[in-house]
Amino acid sequence: MKKTKTIEKNARIVNKYLNSKLKGNPKMLYDAAAHLIIHGGKRLRPHMVIKSCQILGGNTIIAMPAASAVEMIHNFTLVHDDIMDNDEMRHGVPTVHKKFGMPIAILAGDVLFSKAYQIISDSKLSKDATVQLVSRLAKACVDVCEGQLLDVKMAEEKRIPSQKEYIAMIGKKTAALFDVSCSMGAICATGNQKDISNLSNFGRNLGIAFQITDDLIGVMGDPKITKKPVGNDLREGKKSLPILMAIESAKGKDKKVILKAFGNPKATKNDLKNAVDVIRSLGIEENVRTQALEYAEMAKKSLSKYSGSAKTELIDLLDFVVKRSL
Ligand code: IPE
Ligand code: IPE
Ligand code: MG
Ligand code: MG
Repeated sequence: MKKTKTIEKNARIVNKYLNSKLKGNPKMLYDAAAHLIIHGGKRLRPHMVIKSCQILGGNTIIAMPAASAVEMIHNFTLVHDDIMDNDEMRHGVPTVHKKFGMPIAILAGDVLFSKAYQIISDSKLSKDATVQLVSRLAKACVDVCEGQLLDVKMAEEKRIPSQKEYIAMIGKKTAALFDVSCSMGAICATGNQKDISNLSNFGRNLGIAFQITDDLIGVMGDPKITKKPVGNDLREGKKSLPILMAIESAKGKDKKVILKAFGNPKATKNDLKNAVDVIRSLGIEENVRTQALEYAEMAKKSLSKYSGSAKTELIDLLDFVVKRSL
């Protein structure tokens, strides 16, 4: 499943805006902050800001500061996430801490975080709308931190969490940012709280569907397409939905092969490959995709009272999110 033409068009507009904001001295700090952005990324969140603004009658220009800000926040979370997850590759290049070292990576994340708020504060929106954007974005960042802590803690613990706990964790670490992308887009276009809440619900459920699919790709994806290695979630002991389902359904020798790699920092490439092969053979992909589809359906319902091309594009995005292999 390929990205739609409008995702790519919006990505080009946002890239220009981001490039103009990520310059300064010391140059190395900005090179580190721009590193992941330059080498890839789908720009799904800015696309959602723009489309959520358009569905309510707003235009791309008024949505641009919020769209760029959320992409900066997203990249801030990626830089710090790769440190926490001990990941060495993203977008086919070394992660920021691998390339620039730990202190600069931490600062690169911090500068992306700070610039996001600077851009929103400098926007030409009304004072009331600006305060709402800042407040919502700050709340989403708090949620991401809480969700990331839950993710790390769950990985450390031996206990296998319930699927409900997994959904609550990804609701915070991932869906919060998708939610705020849509609610910020809505706020750029209107003060109507019902519309803002509809878009917020759309983003939240799309975000959950996104992370479920991402976790599937994380264990079964093709590294040539995803540009990040498979098996890392297993090695780190991540309690992602496909891993939870695999551990639950594997028996005997299969289960042993999975548990040899799971949460084992010393697992060899071969151990990981064997575990991934077993997980693939268990046929859980369909179950995981069905769960993602359920959240996509809930997201769709939040848009039932709207019409027009922005709505069609948001529905197309939902389709991309659940069918993607990237
Ligand atoms: C990756 O998000 C982090 C997660 C929330 C799983 P994206 O897949 O949207 O990141 P990009 O496209 O590389 O920026
Ligand atoms: C995604 O985390 C959520 C955030 C970055 C906040 P993951 O650890 O699941 O995502 P990838 O696999 O590194 O992209
Ligand atoms: Mg990670
Ligand atoms: Mg992580």
